Amino acid sequence: MNKTIIVSNRLPLQISIEGDKLNVTPSVGGLATGMKSVHAEGNGIWIGWSGITSEDLDSDLKSKVNAKIENAKCRAVELSSDDIDDYYLGFSNRTLWPLFHYFLEYTEFEKSHWEAYKRVNKKFAEVVLNTVEEGDTVWVQDYQLLLLPQLIKDVRPDITIGFFLHIPFPSYEIFRTFPWREELLTGMLGADLVGFHTYDYERHFLSSVKRIMRLEVNFNEITYYDRIIKVDSFPMGIDYNKFHDAALAHNNQNTEKSELQKRLDTHINEDNDKKFILSIDRLDYTKGIPNRIRAFENFLNTYPEYKEKVRLIMLTVPSRSNVPQYQKLKSETDELVGRINGEFSTVSWTPIWYFYRSLPFNNLIDLYTSSDVALITPVRDGMNLVAKEYVATRTNQDGVLILSEMAGAAKEMNEALLINPNSFEDFATALNKALKMPLEEQNSRMKILQKRLKRYDVEKWAKEFFKTLDETNQLQEVVISK
Ligand code: F6P
Repeated sequence: MNKTIIVSNRLPLQISIEGDKLNVTPSVGGLATGMKSVHAEGNGIWIGWSGITSEDLDSDLKSKVNAKIENAKCRAVELSSDDIDDYYLGFSNRTLWPLFHYFLEYTEFEKSHWEAYKRVNKKFAEVVLNTVEEGDTVWVQDYQLLLLPQLIKDVRPDITIGFFLHIPFPSYEIFRTFPWREELLTGMLGADLVGFHTYDYERHFLSSVKRIMRLEVNFNEITYYDRIIKVDSFPMGIDYNKFHDAALAHNNQNTEKSELQKRLDTHINEDNDKKFILSIDRLDYTKGIPNRIRAFENFLNTYPEYKEKVRLIMLTVPSRSNVPQYQKLKSETDELVGRINGEFSTVSWTPIWYFYRSLPFNNLIDLYTSSDVALITPVRDGMNLVAKEYVATRTNQDGVLILSEMAGAAKEMNEALLINPNSFEDFATALNKALKMPLEEQNSRMKILQKRLKRYDVEKWAKEFFKTLDETNQLQEVVISK
């Protein structure tokens, strides 16, 4: 039977060594969370890195790790610590990530990192080529593997390849600054279908292809030698029912409450007027975390009547902590939270509850269902699935989502309060509006958002992608037979 091969930098499970034990945890971030449901459904295999570098694996450990990975319908690409330093921490996260998120001041163009990126993309290609069989489809994910589609196509032109970018594709003016821009585009054009979260990213990509590669672009089709490559936007959804059903179960009176939920309840019971504002992100400079904390401070100063009445719950999930910008961000966040809590706290109130860790799924549901407002304000974000998860868990259709215009998700979530994350005025006005919003208005906004997210969930997203990939293939056959 034909299979679908998903390829991404990380596998959906991450393995680490703790003493003589192997520890298995789910990977964080939108890609892993979203694709997991696609992988669970289909007949396929997921190829990626296990989380352990090859230096840490003797042959005994290796077979144990591989057994765990195979059990989860996955296959590992072995990476050395040099690969991780130069390809992952280096080129992926000190070059592509900042550049594609418009952080030019953080972008490093380091030749040795570029060489490592090419080398590691080849390692991924080797594993894919050893796995793929006639009739299979390969679906390559994200910016760490931009060269992979062409590396596969060169050897197996018969294989159908899809590529999806989970982060923004920047405007031509940004992309053109990149020294190896043509090689990257060539790598992506190995795919038969290139997908983005939004029409804007698609437009930016097509403009770079036209101007840098000087290729013919007809609406959303690129003619590349004897091939036609289709480019389209597919806003990624979530596993809506999983979040909605978990919230329903959580709200059921008979369910045993978690320790976190008991703490949240104590706060709510103290004073019915008190409100929770929730923010959840990976600790990443694109998420606008320090700005959000400063904006919250400004909000408390602008509307002092909310002092002792609101609490910001900030969950930041550790990420890429070996990259200097992330270390700086961690200290800045710690300092800001400390300063603001020091400035505003009273004996009975701390304005910010700050958690720096990842929480299990049931605790996320505790947070989503207990929060009156979700404050999701990245300065730049490919999509942002947290905004969608919050909406899915609001089973009583109450609650307000404040969302940055700079998140891809904003394009489909007009009923949220959309703000410019660089404007403190926007923050303060939106927070005040959200906290005062009549229940009927909350309900009518939530209802529309939920209907849309339920209809276009992650399964539908994947189906649409595969349907378009199929159509692209038929197009290809027509071109070849002409
Ligand atoms: O969603 C964007 C993304 O970079 C994914 O590619 C990645 O899986 C996730 O965020 C988490 O990042 P990392 O794998 O670098 O921890």
